[in-house]
Amino acid sequence: MTTPAFRPVSYSRTTLTELMIPSYANFGGKIHGGILLSLMDKVAYACAAKHAGNYCVTVTVDGVHFLQPVEVGELVSLLASVNYVGNTSLMVGIKVIAENVKTGVVKHTNTSYFTMVAKGEDDKPTQVPGLTLESQEDARRFLEAIKRRELSQRYQSEFIAAKNVLAVEQELHLLEGERCRLSFT
Ligand SMILES: CC(C)(COP(=O)(O)OP(=O)(O)OC[C@H]1O[C@@H](n2cnc3c(N)ncnc32)[C@H](O)[C@@H]1OP(=O)(O)O)[C@@H](O)C(=O)NCCC(=O)NCCS
Repeated sequence: MTTPAFRPVSYSRTTLTELMIPSYANFGGKIHGGILLSLMDKVAYACAAKHAGNYCVTVTVDGVHFLQPVEVGELVSLLASVNYVGNTSLMVGIKVIAENVKTGVVKHTNTSYFTMVAKGEDDKPTQVPGLTLESQEDARRFLEAIKRRELSQRYQSEFIAAKNVLAVEQELHLLEGERCRLSFT
């Protein structure tokens, strides 16, 4: 199949629903964060690969903040869509909701952003189709993704610069007031 120059957001929109079974729970009886991360990676892959028409790999994950616990017996749905495409990369936004089937109560547990890169037959990054934005919502998400990407790049470079000039001995006083103590001299 020849890959088109553009694909609409709706072409790759993906929903994955899974029942939270007891073996997914931690000692506190809530669902392990790692189970949710694995499901998010799975749906991000499905959505990205469908848009790209190629195998994709996960590069970075932004915004993983679990806002509410998920319980055994709840139905978790992961709603994924391509929010942004670069040249070989694309950003998939994933909204995670958990539904109590008895009460019908639905809670929004988190929204996260997976950056994926498409790989060609030679295992090198390969161009992905452009994105046809079908609504103002799609345009908002694309614009937000540009900002997210810019801020993330700025954060990375500023953090690396700050880390490189960190003088531990001179900055030990900054630990005063923190909940730690030194057991070395
Ligand atoms: C991701 C990977 C393909 C990048 O390879 P690379 O040789 O650095 O490729 P490039 O520099 O050409 O970057 C490719 C794209 O990735 C993007 N990218 C690379 N690093 C990134 C980062 N840290 N954050 C966001 N985007 C990134 C680039 O911006 C570029 O996007 P664009 O083509 O849309 O402009 C490579 O590092 C890789 O294969 N990593 C392993 C991924 C993996 O196995 N994931 C599974 C998780 S264990």
